[in-house]
Amino acid sequence: MSDFPYGERGLQAEEVPLSVIADAVGTPFYCYSSAGLECAYQRFSDAVADLGAGICYALKANGNLAVVRTFANMGAGADVVSEGELRVALAAGVPAHRIVFSGVGKAASEMVYALEAGIHQINVESLPELETLSAVAAARGYSAPVAIRVNPDVDAGTHEKITTGRRGNKFGIDFGEARAAYGRAAALPGIAPVGVAVHIGSQLTDMAPFQRAFGRVAGLVGELRADGHTVERIDLGGGLGISYDGQPPPDPAAYAAVAREVIAPLGCAITFEPGRSLVGAAGVLVTRVLYVKRSAGRRFVVVDAAMNDLARPALYDSHHEIRPVLERPGEDEPADIVGPICETTDTFATGRPLSPVEAGDLLAIGAAGAYGAVMSSAYNGRLLVPEVLVRGARHAVVRPRPDFEDLLGRDRLPDWLDAPGRDRARGAA
Ligand code: LLP
Repeated sequence: MSDFPYGERGLQAEEVPLSVIADAVGTPFYCYSSAGLECAYQRFSDAVADLGAGICYALKANGNLAVVRTFANMGAGADVVSEGELRVALAAGVPAHRIVFSGVGKAASEMVYALEAGIHQINVESLPELETLSAVAAARGYSAPVAIRVNPDVDAGTHEKITTGRRGNKFGIDFGEARAAYGRAAALPGIAPVGVAVHIGSQLTDMAPFQRAFGRVAGLVGELRADGHTVERIDLGGGLGISYDGQPPPDPAAYAAVAREVIAPLGCAITFEPGRSLVGAAGVLVTRVLYVKRSAGRRFVVVDAAMNDLARPALYDSHHEIRPVLERPGEDEPADIVGPICETTDTFATGRPLSPVEAGDLLAIGAAGAYGAVMSSAYNGRLLVPEVLVRGARHAVVRPRPDFEDLLGRDRLPDWLDAPGRDRARGAA
């Protein structure tokens, strides 16, 4: 949580104590540090500068308009996976010619929207998708710039559920079929094959899988060129991990070194699609302790955030550092930090050493800037968690908490469903 240091008034985001934001906004809330976002972007950008690479921020990690604009102002492009994300990227000020459209299942209507916007590149993941894009583009007189996303059959060595580059995963075109797919792309109307894309998974902390995947891509580019194709671009995806436990994070420079060694000699324009490594460490989820409950010899700290606000621990058993915003004196003791949702999996940490806490205290859940708010839901009738962006001594709510009218206003009653009182009255008549 190095972007969130302790100050005189407890844990703070830049110069703003988190307790001040909690008083103003209520809990739970996500808080992002502009300096944290900008430092992460700068580090990545410095690491890949000599490669002349484009950085297309993967909005899926955090699609808040203010976050995307922060990166857009630093010159970032965007990697989007839906029309919704594409609209956010454009609204944030990312030029269409710096946006890549990824994803395993793009609908024809989304392809039309992307082509009309003047998208830089569409990464195609299957032959049927290629055929659809060809039909959509040709009918409207477009030549769609396409990268063929290959599945290099490399084990990323990350969590099973966020591994994407192994044969048998749903992603990309089988490595053995990539040559034929590129040939098909060159032959189809409305398609301009411009390159190859790869992405093997997320939260990678070891560089060896990148080395293997990039090596396979380099080999493929050689084969495609031997087939007579031009291959101008290589999209290396995202995947660089961050630290969730206070250990030093993987170094973007080491990652860039792999690309420099394996990919740069091909002379292609290189794109990266980092998500987590740009936003993860720059965000915390702040929650208030509702109750401290002792049961069966355990100390349960029941907080007002839950798995609907931050799904990662429930989905991937992920570890997030948890710190009291204001530390109370006393020894650490193990605590199960749990949310109010009616599922045992609504647990942020089990047996975690934690200083004494009391009802009303604030806790900050670290490294929550990536795949936090974007994956939240209103499960259990809970209001979506708001998001706050800090810059220096200023803070702004960049996504307000909805109210209960918004929650109820989402649903509609069909005209045959009368209120219970009226039904009974009618039955009695
Ligand atoms: N490009 C593509 C094609 C991707 O599928 C992804 C992530 C990225 C870029 C960005 O990867 P990053 O740099 O963020 O690792 N919800 C999961 C992570 C899912 C990642 C999916 N794809 C989690 O909370 O760990």
